[in-house]
Amino acid sequence: MSDDEKERTVELHHEGGTLELPVFTGTEGERTIELKPLLGSTGMTTLDPGFGNTASCSSKITYIDGDAGILRYRGYPIQDLAVGSTFVEVAYLLIYGELPEPGKLKEFSDKLRENADIPNDMGTLIDALPRNGHPMALMSSMTNTLAGYYEDSTDPGDEEQIELATIRLMAKLPTIAARIYRNSIGEAPIAPDPSLDYVENFVRMTFGDGRVDGELGELFHKAVDLLLILHADHELNCSTATVRVVGSSKADIFASIASGISALSGPSHGGANQAVLEMLEDIRNSGVSVEDYLERVKNREVRLMGFGHRVYKNFDPRSKEIKELAGQILDRHDNPEELFELALKLEAAALKDPYFTDRKLYPNVDFFTGVIYRAMGFPTNMFTVLFTLGRLPGWIAHYREQLHDPAFRIARPRQHYVGSAERRYPGQG
Ligand code: CMC
Repeated sequence: MSDDEKERTVELHHEGGTLELPVFTGTEGERTIELKPLLGSTGMTTLDPGFGNTASCSSKITYIDGDAGILRYRGYPIQDLAVGSTFVEVAYLLIYGELPEPGKLKEFSDKLRENADIPNDMGTLIDALPRNGHPMALMSSMTNTLAGYYEDSTDPGDEEQIELATIRLMAKLPTIAARIYRNSIGEAPIAPDPSLDYVENFVRMTFGDGRVDGELGELFHKAVDLLLILHADHELNCSTATVRVVGSSKADIFASIASGISALSGPSHGGANQAVLEMLEDIRNSGVSVEDYLERVKNREVRLMGFGHRVYKNFDPRSKEIKELAGQILDRHDNPEELFELALKLEAAALKDPYFTDRKLYPNVDFFTGVIYRAMGFPTNMFTVLFTLGRLPGWIAHYREQLHDPAFRIARPRQHYVGSAERRYPGQG
């Protein structure tokens, strides 16, 4: 951090004296105390479970104001990008830092089309994977395996290799995801079609031709594109922090992103979109009323999945967009989705209940996403894979940014040890 960004200091009084700690001010006025001198000067560490109060790096990628419900990628409000951009353009913006000139966008898009194929051996490997294995486990394994096929793009110290790996990851992960899905339903794979755009290609490789045509097809593609945009980055969430931690050891980008996919799979993170749908089905199938279900939540028997967020203490701006989209998709759908109605009732009841309002628990990005994916025909266990494809450019952007960070160090937190004091092994004294 430069001296210009450093504005003042705070004093920490401790039993050994007073320590001045530098304070830095970010673009939007948010202030951060630098704790690096603390251990050396005082011998003390800081305890912050879940890193709720810890900024582990400086970043220029995404800005969130959780109280005001603001989300911006590279300074652009998510609402503007949702209306005016495409996922491929947003991916470019996140990874390279600026919106592309039209020529650059075409070049990037073309590279993604040209590199969408996966090696034949890898296809055979995917076909041999357990059909009923969770697709997130298989996605993470196959992403890691890419390093074995493309060793010429694994060196974090070589800019050209990182660029090549960026294109390969963006281009090939949709193909891998679709092939894992086709294998899970016992259907032959569908090869990428270089004449199609990114999202159309993924949808076609997943469902084949004719799954959705005409106007509904267009809406369907737009909806997937929008959902990918809304998921594309979210600063230092659990999976992105994981990508950075793994990358900080100079592990290659494939291994780092594969670790991010594993982190995303958990139900407290990206796995929540699957968990929401399962919760809604549970409520419907058991016949329990919305009110009784909320009582169970308040008695801490279950969590209301798709509600709450570490950073947003107000509406998640993404959930508003997604709710609107769900309305549009389900209005046009042949089979209006009863689970959407149930989700709306659950949301309305929770937002009137002081248990949720007092704790500032609002619907998050995952609350309505699953309902949309379900209406489109994606099976529940593929929902988090769609989140993976959306979050991919964000992970890549963070991995790349970290490589150029002058303050870059291997991630190595401290601990607060509360275990046994020294004791002797039996027979040793
Ligand atoms: N249902 C019921 N109570 C909740 C919920 C929930 N979904 N979320 C938080 N709370 C309560 C929690 O019990 C605690 O109450 P108290 O102070 O009385 O003990 C209080 O709210 C604060 O919760 P917390 O667990 O300290 O909050 P956190 O910041 O550690 O957790 C969270 C954030 C997202 C993990 C959590 O809200 C949660 O488990 N939500 C459900 C899962 C979910 O939807 N995850 C997706 C998150 S957004 C997308 C993504 O990250 O991928």
